Amino acid sequence: MTGFASICCGVQLCRPCLRRRRTYAFGICYSILSVLSIAIIWLLMLGGVPSSLRTPPATIHEHRADMLRRIRQTDPDDNDASPHASEQQQRGELSNLDLYALGCEAAKVYPAVVTSKALKWHQTPRAQLLPEGPIFDGRRFANCVAVSNSAALSGSRLGRFIDSHELVLRFNHAPTIGFEQDVGSRTDVRIVNDLVLLDRKYYVVPNFNFMNDALYRDLTALIGWVPREEDLWNGPIIEHYFERRRLLPHESFYMFETQGLWDIWEFLQKLVPMPIVQYTPSSGALGMFLLLHHCDVVHGVEFIPSVRFHYSYGCHYFEIYQPLPCTFFSPHPKTAEMSLWYRLNRASDEVVFGHGVTQLRGFNVTQCKGSRGMRSSPPRVDYTLLPPLGYPLSTPTS
Ligand SMILES: *[C@@H]1O[C@H](CO)[C@@H](O)[C@H](O)[C@H]1NC(C)=O
Repeated sequence: MTGFASICCGVQLCRPCLRRRRTYAFGICYSILSVLSIAIIWLLMLGGVPSSLRTPPATIHEHRADMLRRIRQTDPDDNDASPHASEQQQRGELSNLDLYALGCEAAKVYPAVVTSKALKWHQTPRAQLLPEGPIFDGRRFANCVAVSNSAALSGSRLGRFIDSHELVLRFNHAPTIGFEQDVGSRTDVRIVNDLVLLDRKYYVVPNFNFMNDALYRDLTALIGWVPREEDLWNGPIIEHYFERRRLLPHESFYMFETQGLWDIWEFLQKLVPMPIVQYTPSSGALGMFLLLHHCDVVHGVEFIPSVRFHYSYGCHYFEIYQPLPCTFFSPHPKTAEMSLWYRLNRASDEVVFGHGVTQLRGFNVTQCKGSRGMRSSPPRVDYTLLPPLGYPLSTPTS
């Protein structure tokens, strides 16, 4: 059944290619190749069916216990060669903070964007090409949602819930057309990584068509990021950025400063006592931090895997080109991120582990100046748009 659903997804992804006659043959080829490669990889590497598919949890609470166990294992960094003793001391120093104090610590981390005031470009012709900022013109939104690209979104029927938010954030080349019922149809903000910005061939996907695809147009904000500081100041990615700024000067197209990424990384390391992988946090973490600074309520969709995790496989809801699971197998410090979302979450187990929706309170810097932390009264959140949960919460006790 899962295999069948994925093949459908693959065909969905190929639809745009199929529409263009020139790439018709490619479309067919990719579909056949991906189905074959999945079959081979399943047989060779996973020994048939992944174990998580064989014994799905019977209840939401069983799934919750499984997820918390995985999250607490953290991403151990075998290459623990940090030369800084101070860094080692800081590991896990925030692990005992309560929800209110932790929110205030997190609020100190802000992923800033490069604006025309950037010192590097100051008084050069390029400064005029940079957006002035501040991002969102300093606006604050009542409720926002960050939609991950997780394969566990397939079959979620969260589309109406997602679309009901004031601001919808998506990542990289995540599509909505053909997936509206599960992921919604609106996109206000899109965060794209260096692969999209480079517009290079990516695995077997031809390319992102970044300069022309409608996915990246007409947004409230489009924001790129690069893992390495030097790529922000020199090289093909930043050239692409300025090229697009020149062509579309009215667009709100920003680049995150690389420092913000490492500030988030350091914060995550202070949260967990084990050394975390020395790699950038995910685009998802960047997006969540941005929203937390600009929204009163932030929902994250599939930032902590829902029970659908056991019935989905592969990376993304929209493609079958990456048949291997990547929720817990990614280069990013994903479990540390998940543990942060879980500790800041205010939604019920049913909403988090059944629907895959975490609810976080946006940062309130004014409240953080007081000694009690972020203790605002619960916001009115409408969960009636969530579909009925087709999964038992717990085993009946009688
Ligand atoms: C922050 O909290 C203060 C005090 O509770 C409140 O008056 C203010 O409206 C809040 N600000 C935001 C942006 O939520």
